[in-house]
Amino acid sequence: MTSDLLIKQAEIVLPEGELLLGDVLVQQGKIAEIGTALHSESARIIDGKGLTLLPGVIDPQVHFREPGLEHKEDLFTASCACAKGGVTSFLEMPNTKPLTTTQAALDDKLNRAKEKCLVNYGFFMGATADNLDDLREASPACGIKIFMGSQHGALLVSTEEEIEPIFAKGDRIIAVHAEDQARIMERRKEFAGISDPAIHSQIQDEEAALNATKLAVKLANKYQRRLHILHLSTGIEAEYLRTHKTPWISTEVTPQHLLLNTEAYEKIGTLAQMNPPLRSPQNNEILWKALLDGVIDCIATDHAPHTLEEKAKPYPHSPSGMPGVETSLVLMLTEAKKGRCSVEQVVKWMCTNPAKLYKIPNKGEIKIGYDADLILVDLNNYRPVLKENLSTKCGWSPFEGWELTGWPVYTIVNGNIALDNGQLCTDVRGKALTFES
Ligand code: DOR
Repeated sequence: MTSDLLIKQAEIVLPEGELLLGDVLVQQGKIAEIGTALHSESARIIDGKGLTLLPGVIDPQVHFREPGLEHKEDLFTASCACAKGGVTSFLEMPNTKPLTTTQAALDDKLNRAKEKCLVNYGFFMGATADNLDDLREASPACGIKIFMGSQHGALLVSTEEEIEPIFAKGDRIIAVHAEDQARIMERRKEFAGISDPAIHSQIQDEEAALNATKLAVKLANKYQRRLHILHLSTGIEAEYLRTHKTPWISTEVTPQHLLLNTEAYEKIGTLAQMNPPLRSPQNNEILWKALLDGVIDCIATDHAPHTLEEKAKPYPHSPSGMPGVETSLVLMLTEAKKGRCSVEQVVKWMCTNPAKLYKIPNKGEIKIGYDADLILVDLNNYRPVLKENLSTKCGWSPFEGWELTGWPVYTIVNGNIALDNGQLCTDVRGKALTFES
């Protein structure tokens, strides 16, 4: 049951970055009042003194592995990790087993999420070469996902002939994993036999990413179709988008593409292996600049857990992907504390803009009438990322040992407390997200 909440004396980050040292009253799952010296007879009081109140994070790209791959993660463990990381809503990708390519598979995920998820959820429909009708009609879906590269099986839709009809028909947002599969295949042959995982960044090189991004932009512009380019990894793509992005194109970056680079392979080996791969330190810098300049619109984690046993296989048998929902917000808030960006910008990139890009109503800002998806974070308490504190089933983080600040103390989902003074409330359940057309 949702009870009313009164959050007292927090530093509140309001829309447009306005700050208020004050109170927020939550009634029936919504933000009812924002002000100073608010009173309520019946609400539970949460002491926000010394804490900062932000809108809950909306993570627009995660892989939560259920159904079919639950040995890596499931919707319960993943959503516990979300609550700990301040993520109150997520948009999940279709490469599960079965693939999310039909209404039935989408319904199955929604039912599972309703049973198990502590936070709010939305799911992508996965494009294949022949499911155009499902892509246009399945509901509620946050969008269409096209793997232009770095996939195998039915979800790999890599040629212009296969991709173009998806852009040509319908108006739903298309999110692309932009890597040029033909180039990757060629380069795999060239570098065959090398087991140093650092070779991954050379096989799936910057040009492979740029080729696919250019093709997606060309098709989006031809049909004026809403396009979102997932996990931008290279400076050359960012510079290309600086001059070629149109109002119907958006893009995102992951914390790992901002904060890790090819030097990570030496320290953490295959744990640094992901798609698109980590790049050079210079790329980190150009991506940061593009984010600060507004060329990049938002941040996503691409949370893609694999077990340590799977990751221990020698490259190229080791799978690509790393977890992220528990560390994304604290990584970015730590950067804000260092002065690289502001807390208000972090809110824009992780809360406000994902809601706008995917047209999720009443979320992403602290406003009267909006859903009470709220987090209270402590910006003054540095703590290391420790694997024993993680909720993700895979049990590791590429950021292990990093001293970070801004850890959520409370995570509130539709007015329900999912993280209560640092303790998970595992009986809380989120809701299915809705998407405006
Ligand atoms: O590294 C990755 N792993 N990138 C993706 O886009 C997919 C993901 C996965 O599902 O493991």
